Amino acid sequence: MPDFREQTIDWLATAAGLERGHIAALLEQPPDPALGDLALPCFRLAARFRRAPQQIAAEIAASELQWPDFFLSIEATGAYVNVRFDPGAFAAAVITAIRESGGRREPVDTEAGPVLIEFSSPNIAKPFHVGHGFSTILGESLARIHSYRGARVLRFNHLGDYGTQFGRLIVAWERWRDDRALEEDPIAELTRIYVRFHDEVENDPTLDDEARERFRALENGDAEAVALWQRFRNLSLESFSRIYRRLGIAFDNWNGESFYSPFIPAVIERLRAAGLLEHSEGAEVVRLDDLDLPPALLLKSDGTTIYASRDVAAAIWRWEQHHFSRNLYVVGIPQTLHFRQVFAVLDKMGCDWADRCQHVGFGTIRFQTGDVNSGEGAQISNFSTRAGNIVKLEDLLNETVAKTRSIMELNQAGRDDGMTEEEIAAASELVGRAAVQFLYLKNGRERDILFSWEEMLDFEGDTAPYLLYTNTRIASILRRAGGDGADAADPADLRLLVSESERELATLLACFDDIVEQVARLSEPSVLARWLLQLARSYNRYYAATPILATAEPGLRRARLALCQAVAARLGLGLGLLGIETVERM
Ligand code: ARG
Repeated sequence: MPDFREQTIDWLATAAGLERGHIAALLEQPPDPALGDLALPCFRLAARFRRAPQQIAAEIAASELQWPDFFLSIEATGAYVNVRFDPGAFAAAVITAIRESGGRREPVDTEAGPVLIEFSSPNIAKPFHVGHGFSTILGESLARIHSYRGARVLRFNHLGDYGTQFGRLIVAWERWRDDRALEEDPIAELTRIYVRFHDEVENDPTLDDEARERFRALENGDAEAVALWQRFRNLSLESFSRIYRRLGIAFDNWNGESFYSPFIPAVIERLRAAGLLEHSEGAEVVRLDDLDLPPALLLKSDGTTIYASRDVAAAIWRWEQHHFSRNLYVVGIPQTLHFRQVFAVLDKMGCDWADRCQHVGFGTIRFQTGDVNSGEGAQISNFSTRAGNIVKLEDLLNETVAKTRSIMELNQAGRDDGMTEEEIAAASELVGRAAVQFLYLKNGRERDILFSWEEMLDFEGDTAPYLLYTNTRIASILRRAGGDGADAADPADLRLLVSESERELATLLACFDDIVEQVARLSEPSVLARWLLQLARSYNRYYAATPILATAEPGLRRARLALCQAVAARLGLGLGLLGIETVERM
C-alpha cells in the first residue's frame, strides 16, 4: 500500500482532533468497495465526544480541512466516515510502489533476536512420510515469510535420532542385516529389519533385554554401538537430503534429539533444586495441576531420559545460543499436550522467555480411507505404499509429477508452438511439486486434508497449477507487447486505470503487506494462499473482459500492461513465499 492509508489517517486525526494511533486502530476497509476505500466507524468515539456516532461521522466528513490530492470523496454513511480515493491516483501509486520495491520491503521485524523455526524433524531409519511433508512445507513457508519481513531466520531440523528403538535396530542389524539392500534403499532395509524385530520378539522376549542392553551401551558411548548408530543416521540423512534438495530447503541446524541428551542431567538438577520434581510411580514428574494439565514425565523409573526432557533441554540450549525472539515448533496437532507441558515446565523453571515458544500445529492428511499422518491404515489405490501402509512424501511427489506430465502432454498435443519433451519434463516437475505444496498450504493448517488428485491438479481450480498458469499467461502477454509496453508506462499513463475492475485489482494488490503480516502473526500461510487465488481470479476476470494488447489508446495500453506486470510480480513473490517456484511455460 502506498502511503495513502497513512495520509488518510493523518487527515482524519486532524479533522477529528484525535491521536493518529486511535484512528489507525479503528480504520477499516469497507466490505463493499462501492462504499469507498477506507472507512472510519465512529461507534467507539461516542463516549469520548458525548455525541451520537452518526453525528460524529457527519461532522468529520464535513470538516473544512484541506483534502490530500488523492481524495475523491469523503462522506458520512450512518456511523461511518467513508473515504474514496481517486482511482487513477490510487492505481498509479500502487503500481509504482510495486515497481520500486523490486520484491523486497522495508524490514518490519526489528526484534532483537532471530526467529527460530523448527520443522520437518523426521525420524532416523524411518520413512519420510506425508505428515513430515506437512511440517516441511508449512515450516519452509513460514521461514520465507519471516525473512521477507526482515527477521533473521534459523531453520532447525530436530531429527528423531534417539531413544530405545535404536537398541532394537542395532540388535536387528546384527542378526538380519543385508548389506546390499542397505546400499540400495537404506530406509526400506532399516524398516524391514525393524519390523522383523517386532515379529521375532513375540517368540523370543530375550531380544528385548538385549535391545535395552544395546541402547544403554549407546548412551554410555560404546564405540561399536555409536558407530552403527552413526551409520544409520548418515544413511537416513542422505535420503532425507534428497527431498530437501528437491524442495529447495536448507537447514541451519540439524541437532537431533541425541544432541540434547547430554544436557538433560543439568536440567533435572535445576528442577530438583527448584523443588519442582516429584516422585510418582517410580518416575520423576513435574506437577502441572494448577494449569489443569497432567504431570510432565521427565525421567523414567529406570533412569533413562525421554522425549519431554530432551525438548526442555533443547529449548534451553536454543535460548542460550540464540536468544530468539520467537521459537516456533511446526509439529502435528497430536503433540499439542506435549508442547503445553514442555512450555509450562520451562515457565515454572523461571525461563522468562517461555512465552516466546509456540507450537504451530497442523492437521492430518487423509487418503481414500484411513489416516496416514501417523502412517496407519491407509488404503491407496492410486499408488503403491511399500513399507507398510505409510505414504512417503517422495512417492506422493513422484506420482503427482507423473500425472502432471500426462496432463501437460495432452494440453500440448497438436500445438505448433508446443513445448519439447524436455521442457515438459522440467515444467511438470515444478508444477507437480507446486501442486503438492499448495495442497498443504491452501487451507487453515489445523484442518485435515482430504487428498484428491482431481482437485489438486485442476488447472481451473483452487490450485497451484491455476496460479502458475495465470502467471505464464501474463508473462506471455508482456512478451507479446513489444517495446511500447509495461516498462514504458509513466505515472500519467497509470492514472488512466480507473475502471471498476482495475480498481479492484489495485485494491487487492495494495493488501499484500497486510496479508504477509497476518501470515506472520497467525503462522498461517493459507491467508496468503487464499489471497493469491483471489488475485488470480480477479485478474482472469479482468483479462476476459478487457482488451489489453488491443487497447487503442497507447497510454492506456501501457498502463494496462503495467497493471498486468504488477499482478505477475505479486503472484511470483507470493508463490515464492509459499516455497513455490514459477514456470515460464506450461
Ligand atoms: N520426530 C518427531 C515426529 O516425527 C517430531 C519432532 C517434533 N519436535 C520436537 N521438538 N519434539 O513425530
